[in-house]
Amino acid sequence: EKGGFEHFMMKEIFEQPKAVRDTITPRIRNGHIVLDDITLTAEELRRFTKINIVACGTAYHVGVVAKYAFEELLRIPVEVDVASEFRYRDPILNENTLMIIISQSGETADTLAALREAKRAGCRVLSVVNVVGSTIATESDDVLYTWAGPEISVASTKAYSTQLAVIYLLALYIGEQLGKFTQEQLSAYIAALEKLPEQIDEMLKHKENIQFFASKYFNASDMYFIGRNVDYAASLEASLKLKEISYIHSEAYAAGELKHGPISLIEDGTLVIALATDARLFDKMMSNIKEVKARGAVVLGVATEDKKEIAGQTDMVFYIPKTASFMLPSLSVIPMQLFAYYVASMKGCDIDKPRNLAKSVTVE
Ligand code: M6R
Repeated sequence: EKGGFEHFMMKEIFEQPKAVRDTITPRIRNGHIVLDDITLTAEELRRFTKINIVACGTAYHVGVVAKYAFEELLRIPVEVDVASEFRYRDPILNENTLMIIISQSGETADTLAALREAKRAGCRVLSVVNVVGSTIATESDDVLYTWAGPEISVASTKAYSTQLAVIYLLALYIGEQLGKFTQEQLSAYIAALEKLPEQIDEMLKHKENIQFFASKYFNASDMYFIGRNVDYAASLEASLKLKEISYIHSEAYAAGELKHGPISLIEDGTLVIALATDARLFDKMMSNIKEVKARGAVVLGVATEDKKEIAGQTDMVFYIPKTASFMLPSLSVIPMQLFAYYVASMKGCDIDKPRNLAKSVTVE
């Protein structure tokens, strides 16, 4: 049942190229995004003055990427909340708010409560769900399914990748409906999206580099992930993945926040993983890398393959292929998932069933 892999998590990491392809392919036709599954009309889309996104855990981290993508492509304000906060903060919602709910299981208690709250307030609710017929799917006005197949490992991997794919599809769909792109822009985005599965596949072939890095640092007591913009969003997911399965204390920080506190924790040998894939912010990230190196940090850099100069400032680099800037987390997360997996495996942890965690959190 694990298809020759030792754990479901690794099997599911390797299923990502196919899962992403299955999620994307039926929704791209003749150079256009076609979302047959949803009923939102262009007229309805024009009415929305705000988008709210609500989710928990890994699905929330997809929401953080979505905020960057939607605001950049659509110029509509986006708020992202974890469901347990959203429910109790008396959010400002009305019929001009598009509520997007993201959930692999479709059964998470806080996320479901947030959906009901949004419906009471008159919002239009669109959910991104993996489990067909789940409660969240049933209660939403529209559902976009991720075609990831069953995800068994508690640590979410292919759900994350397919949720991101759906978010890109939705951003491009809304953008196209609202006339936000030229035909050239739309074609370039669609080409980038269609290329993701093979790029993910290519990266999985270099898993030994990550395994080697993990073998050197799996005994660390703390790790810090830093990034800016979508690299910050990916850092949040990288840090969660590591801590949930390896039990190593880790934190994700917006790199610009370092000097507002956390840099005091950096000392000789502290491990910092710097995600620097966003070309617009590469120089800023290089400065942050120099700052932590100057205080003794060991740095793993993650950068696009055209930024070889990062090697001069880091102890090891993992290169990813280039893509549209808002799609970068789909690629940068791959070495981070593998890193968490190898560290947990070298520590002898129960990877598919980490202590204290359940696959689906159906109680508050
Ligand atoms: O089923 P959901 O997507 O609603 O679950 C949300 C979180 O419980 C889930 O993503 C959790 O954070 C994972 N264990 C992360 O790997």
